Amino acid sequence: MQPRPLIRASAIRRRVAQLGSELSRAYAGRSPLMLALMDGAFCFAADLSRAVALPGLELAFLRVRSYRGTASSGEVRMDGLPDLAGEHVLIVDDILDSGRTLAAVRAAVEAAGAESVAVCVLLDKPARRVPDGLARADWTGFTIPDAFVVGCGLDLDGRWRHLPDVCVLDELPPETGMRG
Ligand code: IMP
Ligand code: MG
Repeated sequence: MQPRPLIRASAIRRRVAQLGSELSRAYAGRSPLMLALMDGAFCFAADLSRAVALPGLELAFLRVRSYRGTASSGEVRMDGLPDLAGEHVLIVDDILDSGRTLAAVRAAVEAAGAESVAVCVLLDKPARRVPDGLARADWTGFTIPDAFVVGCGLDLDGRWRHLPDVCVLDELPPETGMRG
């Protein structure tokens, strides 16, 4: 099972720099709180936070797991949220797939009293969206086809997260075990 590069690290670097500029303009004069969804967003959030020129930026991390057995419809579990009352929260994740994770996190952030909520993802896989999932992110790095990808934070059973490129795994084992 050999990962095949889909988006090269150099292209990711360029896109992250663009997103950093766009976010810096959008949040100019404010001190947003970047809420990175762990574990998958560790790579993207590390790069994106350093591409944003906002002196007041805060970073927080939220452990989110979505378990998907072959038959289950998907269940989102998250740790306790930090205090978000009055904050401009920018949720950062690796990928918008079914949209369930980001719909659940977004709703929880709103319920926690955030002043504003926006979502930024590295990847968008629109082919797999479900009706109750988040329809679209406010900022997207790349839109990708319906393939299972690893690298740049994305895993299969905890493997491949460290790959600098986003890669496609063509042959998947029967039980797909991404950990989120
Ligand atoms: P959701 O289906 O939009 O709720 O996505 C849930 C989580 O599944 C994402 O945050 C990722 O961590 C993970 N995920 C979705 N698609 C892929 C993929 O192609 N490779 C690895 N992880 C994925
Ligand atoms: Mg994830």
